Amino acid sequence: MKKETVLVTGGAGFIGGHLVEKLLQKYHIVVLDNLSTGTMMNLPESPHLDFVFGDVSQEEDVAQVFATYTFTYIFHLAAVASVAASIENPVETHRINMNGTIYLLHAAQQQAAHIQKFVFASSAAVYGSEPTLPKKESSIIAPITPYGIDKWASESYVITYSQLFGLKSSAARFFNVYGPRQNPTSPYSGVLSILTDCFQRVKAGDETANFTLYGDGSQVRDFVYVGDVVNALILLAESEESTSEVYNIASDQRHTLLEVIGMYETITGEKLPLTYQTARAGDIQKSYADIEKIKKLGFVVEDSLETGLRKYY
Ligand SMILES: NC(=O)c1ccc[n+]([C@@H]2O[C@H](COP(=O)([O-])OP(=O)(O)OC[C@H]3O[C@@H](n4cnc5c(N)ncnc54)[C@H](O)[C@@H]3O)[C@@H](O)[C@H]2O)c1
Repeated sequence: MKKETVLVTGGAGFIGGHLVEKLLQKYHIVVLDNLSTGTMMNLPESPHLDFVFGDVSQEEDVAQVFATYTFTYIFHLAAVASVAASIENPVETHRINMNGTIYLLHAAQQQAAHIQKFVFASSAAVYGSEPTLPKKESSIIAPITPYGIDKWASESYVITYSQLFGLKSSAARFFNVYGPRQNPTSPYSGVLSILTDCFQRVKAGDETANFTLYGDGSQVRDFVYVGDVVNALILLAESEESTSEVYNIASDQRHTLLEVIGMYETITGEKLPLTYQTARAGDIQKSYADIEKIKKLGFVVEDSLETGLRKYY
């Protein structure tokens, strides 16, 4: 029997690669990616995987993919995925994170009768630094960075296309995702990838290994293991009930950065050399989620921070 076809934009990225790996068990996958931050090394070899080199912010590239394939599910993950990069380059971020979403929605709408779900990768950044916690999907939206603004606008478009044009869609607000293959090499990288890299260098005897802590380490985060994010995305895609809805994807746990470092020191048996610097612009002091809404769909967190860190390390 012919497998159903699924589009994953940004499939060569950190989260996208894990999603593709899992989806391949069941579907034929098309990845649309311009490899700006992603790499082919994140993608498995498979006769059921087609890689299309293209840019979601080029309407012709998007149109070409939709002229070639008919999709059952679409996962839109391609983006400038860094808050700090969006502050340095808001125009370029907007072109990719906002225009890319609209071009995809517009193209997908032509196949709306066939598409079971368009799932958009949004972010906890839409909540900004408004202090009410934990964040519920109904919490005040107050993004404080170009990244957060474009994620919020994209989400709104995604839900509007669902309601207005019958393109069944859901949006997923990821909190801090971590796990294998997260790129630690840029100053914009996720903190756990930088920490993991640092611990590995300490373990290997590198005396220059040092972790720069922005702020005093009391910032609180909800770190969710990438495997749990993948399960949540597939759950949203395959659920009818999630249509036109937005969901937090997080771990149901919260930790300060200093707690995370302490936990990692216990796991690795190494002491991490630290340098303190002032907090970065756009950094939010506390961010953690209420995930009751997605739990009602059957979502179960499989990895605690400790088990996730052990797997990652
Ligand atoms: N990692 C996190 O903690 C986190 C948190 C919240 C939201 N998100 C969102 O999840 C998604 C995936 O993030 P990630 O951590 O895997 O980042 P990533 O940088 O590893 O992945 C992004 C992928 O998109 C591709 N891409 C970028 N611009 C593109 C363009 N114009 N056209 C085609 N492809 C393009 C990149 O090459 C890369 O493969 C992003 O939308 C990000 O904003 C991530």
